Amino acid sequence: SPSDPDLVERARAAKEKLGDKVFVLGHHYQRDEVIQFADVTGDSFKLARDAAARPEAEYIVFCGVHFMAESADILTSDHQKVVLPDLAAGCSMADMATAEQVAECWDVLTEAGIAEQVVPVSYMNSSADIKAFTGKHGGTICTSSNAKRALEWAFQQGEKVLFLPDQHLGRNTAVRDMGMSLDDCVVYNPHRPNGGLTAEQLRAAKMILWRGHCSVHGRFNLDSVNDVRERIPGVNVLVHPECRHEVVSAADHVGSTEYIIKTLEAAPAGSKWAIGTELNLVRRLANRFAPEGKEIVFLDRTVCFCSTMNRIDLPHLVWALESLAEGNLVNRIEVDKETEAFAKLALERMLALP
Ligand code: 13P
Ligand code: SF4
Repeated sequence: SPSDPDLVERARAAKEKLGDKVFVLGHHYQRDEVIQFADVTGDSFKLARDAAARPEAEYIVFCGVHFMAESADILTSDHQKVVLPDLAAGCSMADMATAEQVAECWDVLTEAGIAEQVVPVSYMNSSADIKAFTGKHGGTICTSSNAKRALEWAFQQGEKVLFLPDQHLGRNTAVRDMGMSLDDCVVYNPHRPNGGLTAEQLRAAKMILWRGHCSVHGRFNLDSVNDVRERIPGVNVLVHPECRHEVVSAADHVGSTEYIIKTLEAAPAGSKWAIGTELNLVRRLANRFAPEGKEIVFLDRTVCFCSTMNRIDLPHLVWALESLAEGNLVNRIEVDKETEAFAKLALERMLALP
């Protein structure tokens, strides 16, 4: 989308004034008008790693959502300040698991006599509190690019996994990558007594999936895949693992946003692709690869942007950069020390995965 030239100039000037003091990270789902100012772009794994690799930057401006900014704060040094240009940029999936609900779940697992066998694996898309719970109970964080390795590691530590909060990534990784069956998985519903499960069901399960999902990816369904295959003969269907199991099963390729980009970079001219992920990224890729003769379409035209990723727009970015350039620290994301210590343990276990 064309961005206001006046705002573009202001963002450029503020960034120039800040120089090496500021480092701007941009998730692949960010708007074009914002992504043009990112020093690095990436999936959530790459951004977590890159945030930690800039100790000289006093300010990390995170163009993404709240849990990503929290993770950056946990992984960076104390003198570095992480800024989220709009504090309303949350994630509905991360909000589906609260610290109280997860503590209650652990009580249910303890009651069923299985807590000692359970290793928590939490998706990056979770609050710092959930990451701290994970670290405290011997578990690891994962992202969509290392979920398989995280599960392999977890099943070396224990017999069962509690996977938080995305049931789809958990199920897809267990079934697609780990050879488990759908019957090995149960879904824990935090809104029902005992998660809606009997102690027998919990004892029989290998994967205890939290009942959370992404409101964007959850809207793709089997019809989306069937319709696009009918509309575009020979199309390759490439989707994110936050999609429902039926969608992932019917797709040709599955992976994180970074994987999606790499796959399209390597695709031959003349190939056709339907992409099941957030719209800002799909549009950008369609425009980027059209001159090379790669046809890229959105998997389902009725699915739209991630509304919270979209909260970070050029006016918010300009405001954050200009404030920092004037010496005003705004919208700082800071995780308290105790939470940080345990959350860091879980994040570092992820970073150390083979
Ligand atoms: P990745 O960029 O790690 O694939 O994650 C997608 C996502 O939903 C981030 O919110
Ligand atoms: Fe959360 Fe889904 Fe948006 Fe990612 S795309 S930030 S998982 S709501």
